Amino acid sequence: NAIRTFIDNLPKAELHIHVEGTLEPDLKLKLARRNHIDIGQSTVEEVQQTYDFHDLPSFLAVYYQAMQVLQTEQDFYDLALAYLQRAAAQHVRHVELFFDPQAHTSRGISFSTVITGLHRAIVDGRAFNIDAALVMCFLRDLSQESARQTLQEALPYKDWIVGVGLDSDEHNNPPLKFARLFEDARTEGLHLTAHCDVDQKDSIEHIKQALEIMDVERIDHGTNIVEDSDLVALAVKRGIGITACPPARKDTSPKMKGEAILMLLDKGAKVCVNSDDPAYFRGYINDNYCALADQFNLSQEQVAQLAKNSFEVSWISQERKDIYL
Ligand code: HPA
Ligand code: ZN
Repeated sequence: NAIRTFIDNLPKAELHIHVEGTLEPDLKLKLARRNHIDIGQSTVEEVQQTYDFHDLPSFLAVYYQAMQVLQTEQDFYDLALAYLQRAAAQHVRHVELFFDPQAHTSRGISFSTVITGLHRAIVDGRAFNIDAALVMCFLRDLSQESARQTLQEALPYKDWIVGVGLDSDEHNNPPLKFARLFEDARTEGLHLTAHCDVDQKDSIEHIKQALEIMDVERIDHGTNIVEDSDLVALAVKRGIGITACPPARKDTSPKMKGEAILMLLDKGAKVCVNSDDPAYFRGYINDNYCALADQFNLSQEQVAQLAKNSFEVSWISQERKDIYL
């Protein structure tokens, strides 16, 4: 239909995408074979069946378990390149790619193995007419000390990293736990974002901390902000990016939150559409745009505004933004 064609051809930036969340079952099988790891599944369908969850903790358990197949620099390269190729085919022109170094260093894979593979994919991915930058996420359920050590390990590779974020289990792990670390990251010239998950009961308090105290530039998910009109006003005034991830499929957690996305769009907040963990939620960015557009009857103007927002709150130079705005 018309809106699908419009979405397919629209240049977009993707700002909320975990590279580890793009591990498709066929690649998982291939890497398991290559690394001689017995994962207990031998067909795509069997792997698909393990990609089963109903909330953030049960999702995270599957997500971390699957990562064991990522062992070598080439594995990280293959993972990222496969995603970049798919994204480019959906007319994504710019990606800010989350990665979770602690999920790998904690199982004996070196920081340099992870980032060298990802960076090499980004360089080679330019051949598909897509550019990408890395955003390093700290696992908020691990200690401040572990996060601090990770930032130290990252500094020699600072030129390959555009910003830092916070992900993993949000329950009892508020943004403020990492306030000083974020301050140090900012001093190093890195941009700041944080997951403020829609389904967490403290998410309004977490958004407040992230925006009012830590001065982050974006919040990931974050659509719960609509429950607090003062916070929405602040986000609009500051041009805060809100990286929503409305899932294309109705049968998976999380939920779409379409009313909230439309309300934010209406108020002029810089909300955009992303895919988060597409191999698990089984929808890439255009699928998510289309599902939102279909279910909430979006006009082409509204869809175009979402895509425009994605470039506007991205961390590319103004000069490059001007090409898309
Ligand atoms: N939320 C929290 N942690 C995550 C996510 C997410 O959406 N994806 C990967 N790690
Ligand atoms: Zn996420």
